[in-house]
Parts: sequence; structure tokens; C-alpha cells
Amino acid sequence: MIVTLDGPAGSGKSSAAQGLADRLGWLHLNTGAMYRAVTLAALRRGIDLADATALAALAGSPGLEFKPGVVRIDGVDPGKDLRGAAVNEAIKAVADCPAVRGALVLRQRLLAEGIDLVTEGRDQGTVVFPAAELKVYLTASREVRARRRFAEEAARRPGITLADILAEQDRRDADDRGRQHGALRVPADAVEVDTDRLTCAGVVDTLVGLVASRRSAGGVA
Ligand code: C5P
Repeated sequence: MIVTLDGPAGSGKSSAAQGLADRLGWLHLNTGAMYRAVTLAALRRGIDLADATALAALAGSPGLEFKPGVVRIDGVDPGKDLRGAAVNEAIKAVADCPAVRGALVLRQRLLAEGIDLVTEGRDQGTVVFPAAELKVYLTASREVRARRRFAEEAARRPGITLADILAEQDRRDADDRGRQHGALRVPADAVEVDTDRLTCAGVVDTLVGLVASRRSAGGVA
């Protein structure tokens, strides 16, 4: 069975997806980490971010290793570099590139073959797994998302303000929603879960309940 979890930055997707996978004993695929790894590897190799052919070749190359819970570049876990400022600044060019998206969509589908998977991103229910048994769209208000991110980042980025975080978030939302291919949208038959008033455990409980009812409705063991 495949469960897709899409939603904007700060909606709590990653913790929810990991929590759900842990509760079910399934695997969790963070597709944002795949776009981040392509970006980091391109920067390290000095690839021109306007060169779609080179970027797509990189995205499909065995030097980038992707498995649920695992990202390696040339055999090494990139650690916190994956979420560093250089990647954040360059990732739009990579995520906007249709040839990169094509290569990663293919890899995501191959990774999902024959396993139970919780997969999270922006296009998982709309483009990558439109026939998934359960599609969830996580939402939260602009302010709640920004406050969550501020709490996470304040210690790591001295001097950062809530207004800075809001501006960054608005830019990312515009990029994610305005992208020509793989734009963030609510999948047609998704269940929307508003996380504003839920704790992380509350979100996971809600998702576990949705999986259970989908399984009993579909006769899945
Ligand atoms: O989820 P995260 O914030 O780590 O994603 C990093 C970047 O990758 C974002 O800019 C997002 O738009 C992009 N992305 C994407 N498609 C996905 C997952 C992430 O374009 N399926």
C-alpha cells in the first residue's frame, strides 16, 4: 500500500510521515531530500544549474543513492549540508527543471515497487502516485507554519526573526505553487488534514486512523 503526504513547507509533513511509517512498521521516503541531494551534488561538481541535460544525468546517476531513509552522494551521507543555505538558495533551479523531475519521479516509482510506503513531498499524490490507496494533503495556516519553523531554526541561525522566516516561507510557497511541472496542489481525491490545532502525535493518530479505515474499506489486510 502507498500513502502519499503532500503539503507546503512547515505543514509538518516530515515528522508526520516518519511517525506514521514508524507506527505501521513501513518505510518512509522523503522526496525533498532527493531534490536537495541533486542540488548539493550539482554545486559540488560545479554543474551549471541552467544545464538541464547535465542536471538530469546527475539525478539519474548511480553516484546519487536513494532508498527510503537513505541519501548518499558518492557513498557518503551528506548530513546537515543537505539543509544548508547553499542548497536552499540553489534548489529552485533544480526542482523547476522538468528533466530532473522526470528522472526523480522514475526513481521514486521504482523505490516503491512491492513495498508498503509512506512517501512525502509536493507532487506525490498528483504526479508520482496518482493511484495511491490513500492521499493526504497536510495544511496549516501561514502563521503557524512560520512559528514552527522559527522554533526549529532560531538556535541554528542567531539573529533570525519571525518576519524573516515568514518572508522565506512566502517565497518558497510561491515557488512550490507556481512551478510549471510538479507544482504543489491538493490531489483531487485527497483527505485534507489541518494541523493548526494538532500536536505531532495528534497528526500521526489521525493518519493511522485514515490508513485503518482505507484498509478495511478496501479489504486490505
Ligand atoms: O521538503 P523540502 O523542503 O526538503 O523540499 C526541498 C525542495 O524540494 C523544495 O523547494 C520543494 O519545492 C522541492 N520538492 C519538490 N518536489 C518534491 C519534494 C520537494 O519540488 N516532491
